[in-house]
Formats: sequence, C-alpha cells, structure tokens
Amino acid sequence: MEVHVSLTGRDDLSGEIYRQLRRAILDGRLRPGDPLPPTRDLARSLSVSRNTATVAYDRLFGEGFVTARTGAGTYVSEHVPQMRPGPLERRETKSLQPRSVWGSIQLPTIAFERLAIFDFRTGLPDASLFPYETWRRLLSEQMRAEVVGKALYAHPAGHEGLRAAIARHIGVARGVQATTDDVLITGGTQQALDVIARTLLAPGETIAVEDPGYAPPRSLFRSLGLVLANVPVDNEGLIVDRLPSDARLVYITPSHQYPLGMSMSLQRRLALLEWADENDAAIIEDDYDSEFRFGGRPLEPLMTLDTSGRVIYVGSFSKTLIPILRLGFIVTPPSLREAMYRAKYVADWHTATPGQAALASFLDDGSFARHIRKLRSVYEKRHDLVTRILTRDFNNELELVPSVAGLHVTALARPEAADRLPDALRRASAQGVEVHELARIGGGPSARSRPGLMFGYGAIPTEHIEEGLRRLRAAFG
Ligand SMILES: Cc1ncc(COP(=O)(O)O)c(C=O)c1O
Repeated sequence: MEVHVSLTGRDDLSGEIYRQLRRAILDGRLRPGDPLPPTRDLARSLSVSRNTATVAYDRLFGEGFVTARTGAGTYVSEHVPQMRPGPLERRETKSLQPRSVWGSIQLPTIAFERLAIFDFRTGLPDASLFPYETWRRLLSEQMRAEVVGKALYAHPAGHEGLRAAIARHIGVARGVQATTDDVLITGGTQQALDVIARTLLAPGETIAVEDPGYAPPRSLFRSLGLVLANVPVDNEGLIVDRLPSDARLVYITPSHQYPLGMSMSLQRRLALLEWADENDAAIIEDDYDSEFRFGGRPLEPLMTLDTSGRVIYVGSFSKTLIPILRLGFIVTPPSLREAMYRAKYVADWHTATPGQAALASFLDDGSFARHIRKLRSVYEKRHDLVTRILTRDFNNELELVPSVAGLHVTALARPEAADRLPDALRRASAQGVEVHELARIGGGPSARSRPGLMFGYGAIPTEHIEEGLRRLRAAFG
C-alpha cells in the first residue's frame, strides 16, 4: 500500500518519516501485517537519501512498531495498540459543527433493521419478486467496452432511451402526455423533489405539504431552508381552502395519500389547480405507487387536468422494482425544463448510466408491463386479505381508512383503544409481528397526534398475513 509521507517544509527528514509512519500505524491506516515500502523506493519517491529512510525504519524497528525479515521486507508488527484520538483530532471535532437543522433530522431506522417473520412495516416492496436473472443480463450487457465507449459524462436529463420509454409508459398507463425532453431521470423521488425545490424556491420561501404526510421530503425541504406549511387532509385529500396564499409550491400524493391512503377527489383536484393559477404556485404530484390499483375508477393524474403548466409529475421505480436501484423521474413543464437539467447537473451531473440503460431495455421489451401485472395480482390478494381481516376482527379497536391502491392500508385507533396501542404493539413484536405506528412513519403534527397503524403488505408473504394478524389480535387481548 502507498503510505503518504509529506516532507514539505520539514528539516528533520528522517525524524519526520519516522513520525508519520508511526502515526499511520497507530491510527490504523497501516494495519498489523501490512508491508512498508522498501527503503530504496521510499527514498526515491521522497527525493531523500536511502540512509535517511533507513534511519527512520531502524527507529520504528527498535521501538517494536515494525518487524524486519531479512530479504523479505519490513512489516507492521502484529501487536500494535490502536491510538486514542490525540489532541489534534479532538480539537477538530469541537471546532466543526453542522448547521442546526441536521440535529433534528434522523436517519431512517428501517433501512438497518432486520426483517420480522410477520412484517407489516411499510415502504418495502416484495424483493423476492424482483426479476434478478433478467436484470443481471440487462446490466451485464451495459458493462461491455463497446457499449461504454469512451465513458464520457452523459446528459444530466438521463439516458435518452429510458426517457423515451418512460414517456411512452406513462402515456399508456397514466394518460400523461410527455415527450422524451420532458422526462428527467433522478435518483428516486427524493432527488426529484430536491431538484424541483431548488429549481423553483429560494431559502425562506414557503412550501405546502400534506399533514399527515410523507416524512422524508419534509426533512429535505427544511434542510433547503424552506418554510413548511402544514395543510390538513380529510377523506377527499388535501383541504385546498387551508392552503396559505404565500405557498409557492405544493407537494402532494393525490392518487394514494401518504400515509392515510385515500385518493384526492376530482372536485379537490380541480380546486387545487384553480388555486395554483390564482396564487401563481406550482404543484408537485408524487405518483409513487399508482401502478397498483385494485378497484374503483382509475383517477386522472393532476397533470392530465392541468391546462396551464403548473403541475410537475414525479414517478419512482422503488415500488415497482426495488428501492436500492434509486431510479425515479420528473415530468417537467417546458418552462422549467432547462433549469431542471441544470439543477440536476449541479447535484450529481447525472444518474448512473448502466442501471438507466438496463431499465430502458426492461421497459422496451415488455418485461416491465409483465412484471407489473404479476406484482399487481400478488399485492391485490394481500390487500384484500389484510382489509378483510382488519374489518372483521379489529372493528372494536381500529377504523380502516378505505383505500384501493398501493402497498399499505392505514387504520386509525378508535378512541377507546388508543391507549392500548403501544402495549399491544410491544406484545405483538415479541411474537414476531412488526407494524408501524402512524406517528412513527407519517410526517407532520397531526400524524403525531393521531393514534393509528399502517399495514404494509409489500414485504410480508401472503401466507403469513392471516397468522400475523391473528397474533396481533391476541396482543390486543
Ligand atoms: C409518498 C412516497 N413517495 C415516494 C416514495 C418513493 O421514494 P423514492 O423514489 O425516493 O425511493 C415513497 C416510498 O415509500 C413514498 O411513500
């Protein structure tokens, strides 16, 4: 391994080599058994005499930091203690402090938790249904020298073939009319929201969000210095009359409100578009899981009702494929297109190309449509089973919010059962059943004050649902 030694402006060259190598050994950059470079090579690379390097090595050897095997080189000794942080490191940690907003933003624990046997936690698709073979083949086709070519940076808007395939897909599946140029590929919804917010708003401006709502974007918007306006939702979705007139941007989940699960009524959709026109505001439509709709009439995306170019549509492949791919997209109105390309460019230049190209082939050859059909039929069974059992067996404790889409349903605690929720969840957890409380997952003041549970059915095998809910039922007593 190359050890970095710097002799710039130093006098005692041999002593300096000794000190820097000793420090590298003690702080673990050089580990027991690692070889040190031969004195001849080190001397050449530092432009010092070989004797200078040898003196430093002799000192390290004399103090037991290294072992020298004649003819076989010099190695870090096997038993060297790790150094505690010295005065320098301690001073550094004290003097550099992040902005205070980072103190109030937590990392999501779900990403690091082990899965439970009866896992009703939300936010997870069924990873066992992912088409691994096909995906491996498509990805490895992208990693050939003749495909990669000169490995030039790509256009920030993303892989042209994928943008075209997405434009076609949402045209067919959602009736959203978009050209290739309107589509910008992002690292999931979360980056899409970052690009949009930075394109449109300056720190100090107001963004309206649903209350309760999806939590990660709320943290993102706060980190960008935006002011959050919490707007309540009822069984028709966002209450448009409660929007503050100074909101420049409104972030909503109209097809399947997150976390409660209802759809936004047509009347409210039209009222929201009118409000945006009157207040010169933009709307972000997060259409994160509408591929999975199990009944009722398909709802018009806001974007198809929009006649004045105020709606920015956001889609994700986290539910239809798997979230670790980090692939999502924006459909931008023409007036924002160029600025969004630039906002994406300054964030990360562009999303990694091989995954985008693999997804383009997956969409183009019909695999994606087949995959969705398969998932829909699996998730529909789970949705129906969970809904049926909750209505039948939990009627005294929970009131189900009607929902016919997505990968979770939400149930609010009846007032007389609210106090029993935490204990019941603890007992259920001891029996291998994990369910998220609304307060833990939903963002916003009203999520915290509304006792309820969210039942995800993405990660739980269908045959575990009945037993999982039976155990939860028993935990309520
Ligand atoms: C409301 C909402 N939007 C979007 C997403 C997907 O986010 P991403 O594409 O960043 O993985 C989720 C995932 O749980 C979600 O609940």
